[in-house]
Amino acid sequence: MSDAFVRVDGLHRSFDVSRPWLERTLSGRPRETLKAVDGVSFAIRRGETFAIVGESGSGKSTLARMVVGLLTPTAGDVVIDGVSMTGRADRSRRKELRRRIQMIFQDPFASLDPRWRAGPIIAEPIRAFGLADAREADRQAADLLRRVGLDPADARKYPHEFSGGQRQRIAIARALAPKAEFLVCDEPTSALDVSVQAQILNLMRDLQDALGLTYLLISHNLAVVRHMATTIGVMYLGRLVEVGPARTLFAEPRHPYTRMLLDAVPDLAMTGRRRMAVLGDAPNPIDPPAGCAFHPRCSLATDRCRAQAPALRDGVACHLVD
Ligand SMILES: Nc1ncnc2c1ncn2[C@@H]1O[C@H](COP(=O)(O)OP(=O)(O)O)[C@@H](O)[C@H]1O
Ligand code: SF4
Ligand SMILES: [Mg+2]
Repeated sequence: MSDAFVRVDGLHRSFDVSRPWLERTLSGRPRETLKAVDGVSFAIRRGETFAIVGESGSGKSTLARMVVGLLTPTAGDVVIDGVSMTGRADRSRRKELRRRIQMIFQDPFASLDPRWRAGPIIAEPIRAFGLADAREADRQAADLLRRVGLDPADARKYPHEFSGGQRQRIAIARALAPKAEFLVCDEPTSALDVSVQAQILNLMRDLQDALGLTYLLISHNLAVVRHMATTIGVMYLGRLVEVGPARTLFAEPRHPYTRMLLDAVPDLAMTGRRRMAVLGDAPNPIDPPAGCAFHPRCSLATDRCRAQAPALRDGVACHLVD
């Protein structure tokens, strides 16, 4: 895709989850590797919201951390605006990318330093990236507070003096402070009350419209994704099983897992389609099922599904969809 702003190319990430050496030696257990992300590729156009959905443990946060450069991939690459995040060349352009890409986490209390007041929290990246002197950074921080719906006077308060939703607003202001263009948001509203969630999502949309931001939005919640996404990627055990325009995916889900996820959302009116029961839990990623990893939970599974993993073709990875 030539007009891609962000290109994620065959990303893999494994973790060594072996027992300590002595215990392995005594028990005769082999080394164990967990494939958290197992060959994920997609592209995001500028100004788009690409959402990743999937159950807990499917590899969403691992993927997000690789996209922003907090975690090194085992294989694959992330290319943002033509700059490879893993390549050795382009050191200065990569540094510049770190300014343009920011991450928003689920728990703003953990991501904001409790000893700092809101103003300096927001002003810090402006100064750290050399974008302005202290005075100008403080002025911009006040502007940003207003922009995210807070009072410039809030600059003097500490994180614990704010509500959860207000803290997430501060985290967003801090992410925007270095004039970021691409925000990777990992479950940004999952820790908030439902009414507050909607306010934060609306703020994110308004900011996107005003500033032309590109989002990678990660959520286990399809209702959140439906409200926000242009394109959705459904993740299962480290792989994308379906990718497509949000509207199409909600109207005509093709992968059995996507259908199962949609059926599990109580407030989505799914007309004219037989509902599929949610079967069992996600399998252990240390010892994933052979063939299609979804087969133990799939009511349509055949012998072929148990033997051979389906590739992602035309936006879906399922032997029965052609
Ligand atoms: N640092 C790590 N060491 C070992 N295993 C990890 C590590 N980080 C994540 N995992 C494992 O990788 C899998 C995917 O985790 P994660 O990316 O956090 O999923 P999600 O965000 O979708 O819940 C999980 O099985 C998790 O236990
Ligand atoms: S490949 Fe087989 S087991 Fe996997 S989702 Fe499709 S039908 Fe189900
Ligand atoms: Mg996560």
